[in-house]
Amino acid sequence: MIIKELSLKFYRNYENIDIKFNKNINCFIGNNGQGKTNLLEAILFLSLTKSHRLNEDKKLIMNNKSFSKISSLINDEEDKKLDIIIHQNGKSLSINNYSINKVSDFIGKLNVILFSPDELFLFNDQPKERRKIIDQEISKINQKYLLALNKYKNLIKEKNILLKNKIDENYLDVINDQLIEVDEVIIYERNRIIEIINKNINKIYKLLANEDKNINIKYKSCIDNKNVKEKLKDLYRLSKQKDIDYKVATEGPHREDYLFLMDDIPIVDIASQGQKRMVILAFKLALINYIYQETNKYPVLLLDDVLSELDINHRKALINLLKNNIQCIITTTEDIEIDGNIKKFYVENGTVKEI
Ligand SMILES: Nc1ncnc2c1ncn2[C@@H]1O[C@H](COP(=O)(O)OP(=O)(O)OP(=O)(O)O)[C@@H](O)[C@H]1O
Ligand SMILES: [Mg+2]
Repeated sequence: MIIKELSLKFYRNYENIDIKFNKNINCFIGNNGQGKTNLLEAILFLSLTKSHRLNEDKKLIMNNKSFSKISSLINDEEDKKLDIIIHQNGKSLSINNYSINKVSDFIGKLNVILFSPDELFLFNDQPKERRKIIDQEISKINQKYLLALNKYKNLIKEKNILLKNKIDENYLDVINDQLIEVDEVIIYERNRIIEIINKNINKIYKLLANEDKNINIKYKSCIDNKNVKEKLKDLYRLSKQKDIDYKVATEGPHREDYLFLMDDIPIVDIASQGQKRMVILAFKLALINYIYQETNKYPVLLLDDVLSELDINHRKALINLLKNNIQCIITTTEDIEIDGNIKKFYVENGTVKEI
């Protein structure tokens, strides 16, 4: 899958720009604060219908304007036009000029993987942030998961309201039975993505970092992966009294976590900044394998400000890994020598020029 064209109108500091991308490597060069991340953010918005940097969409609208428009032409077996208009009180989505009402019908039409420097916090963050990343990656390519997850979130809300108020135990059992149905889907897919990532992440890390360390992600599931239904029934039966006592849903997929390990030790405890960066990069590249395995298509890779942080050997290792079949959009503050099929752009104060 590739993005062929992108137009932004009144998006952040872009008043009006049109970009035609190269099908392999695209490099956006510019000083700090010129709009490089804004560009990647707009592409990510096309994929997820939300920004990775803020929750309130209307803040993306250029100051003193009333709307913002992100338009794109992508190619995924055939050309498709994806458009998003962000208004003061919502957003409209369309595919090939047909209006899309259900966000879940839009998410993932363009599939991107983003690496951004903020993600170094992934290891220190709360489990919620790690769950969010994994959930997003599965949801983009798996509607069944997205629907199960949404249903799950609604059921947990309902359960917590029930537990906070006067408890009807029969109703609690009904909710738990419904939870078991969606939990099964969620736990199966979480196991699957981690299994596929673990098959690849080690090899990628070794190539990138050129050191012989074993990288592995441990999915800390609320149950183990055999006889899931039975185990879930037991889990909810055994935790029922605790839920009632604590007045909150104490067990289930909303309490799970993913532990990143280096030679079996949590990365947060031992890895250097540079190693952490390489692990996240390897994780993102392993996600490409996951998406390819599940959909037979490569996502577009967005690398925000990663090259300038890597020394020349690591940079070469990364570019070699990207090969020809992946479209990659890279931002950097300095012009960097890269071999291969590459198009370069210069970004300055909300303008983009091909160089
Ligand atoms: N809603 C908005 N309206 C107008 N300008 C905005 C808006 N939101 C952000 N900006 C501007 O966008 C610019 C920041 O863009 P961006 O984060 O893409 O920079 P960058 O090129 O990635 O910089 P760095 O190299 O420091 O990461 C700032 O100048 C900021 O004032
Ligand atoms: Mg930036």
